[in-house]
Amino acid sequence: MRIAVIGGTGLIGTRVVARLESDGHDVVVASRATGVNSYTGEGLEQALAGAHALVDVSNSDSLDEAAASEFFYGSTLNLLTYGAAAGVAHHVALSVVGTDRLARSEGGYFAAKAAQERLIRESRRPYSIVHATQFFEFIANIADAGTNREVVRLSRALFQPMAADDVAAAVAVTAAGPPLGRVVEFAGPERFRLEELVRRQLRLRHDLRDVVVDPLARYFGTDLDEHELLPGPDATIAPTRYDDWFATGGRPYEPATRHPLRS
Ligand SMILES: NC(=O)c1ccc[n+]([C@@H]2O[C@H](COP(=O)([O-])OP(=O)(O)OC[C@H]3O[C@@H](n4cnc5c(N)ncnc54)[C@H](OP(=O)(O)O)[C@@H]3O)[C@@H](O)[C@H]2O)c1
Repeated sequence: MRIAVIGGTGLIGTRVVARLESDGHDVVVASRATGVNSYTGEGLEQALAGAHALVDVSNSDSLDEAAASEFFYGSTLNLLTYGAAAGVAHHVALSVVGTDRLARSEGGYFAAKAAQERLIRESRRPYSIVHATQFFEFIANIADAGTNREVVRLSRALFQPMAADDVAAAVAVTAAGPPLGRVVEFAGPERFRLEELVRRQLRLRHDLRDVVVDPLARYFGTDLDEHELLPGPDATIAPTRYDDWFATGGRPYEPATRHPLRS
């Protein structure tokens, strides 16, 4: 099956591409680095020609609400429009567990992801939306986003993070199946407090920043309730535990090269 992966050079995208290729699919790697820009439409017609499925694992260069909203709105409209013209039979997008709740309460980056999901749901195109929890590889970003003067301030929220490889497997399996017309949730096997796992990761990496619980701390522009990042009871539980991921060389994600268009 021919499958176009938008954002196929990113943290999740490279893993989705590898997984689909090893399952025997004909994969088109689409990102600005390969001449495809989902926001401007450049190269989309060629990238989607003959594709049965389109997998959107792209991300905005900036995680602030305005920039992310502009990106996801424009890019998703283009993908739906070009996808329909090319006869794509399955539009698959990756989003975050709890997006609707988080967007409703405060907005931030999650308002942009909620808008992306709404466009897909209301497009009348055949789709599946994969909701994943936070990636282990992303915990360093959570620490950095909460840092001010060498102190990491985090809410008391619980989360159930998962390995990027498990996220990619979930996306690849969904893309190879029929359109579900709904959200499917995936989550890691263990539940932690944000501050607990951030502190653990910083210590394992000999990072001496203090980690403190601050009820007023925001999470990527959003106020978090204790349970808002957690999956529902029907979520599929991924196999990889945090300690096993770390022990087998799991590391925060650092893109090898930065695209010239990225700030
Ligand atoms: N972080 C988490 O814990 C988490 C949890 C659940 C879901 N998610 C979702 O997972 C998705 C993927 O995240 P990620 O961390 O894998 O992202 P990432 O590593 O930042 O990769 C983003 C990808 O998007 C591409 N891209 C950016 N702008 C583009 C454009 N205009 N046209 C075409 N491609 C473009 C990038 O390639 P170029 O630079 O070459 O264009 C890159 O391949 C996101 O939508 C995010 O919301 C994240």
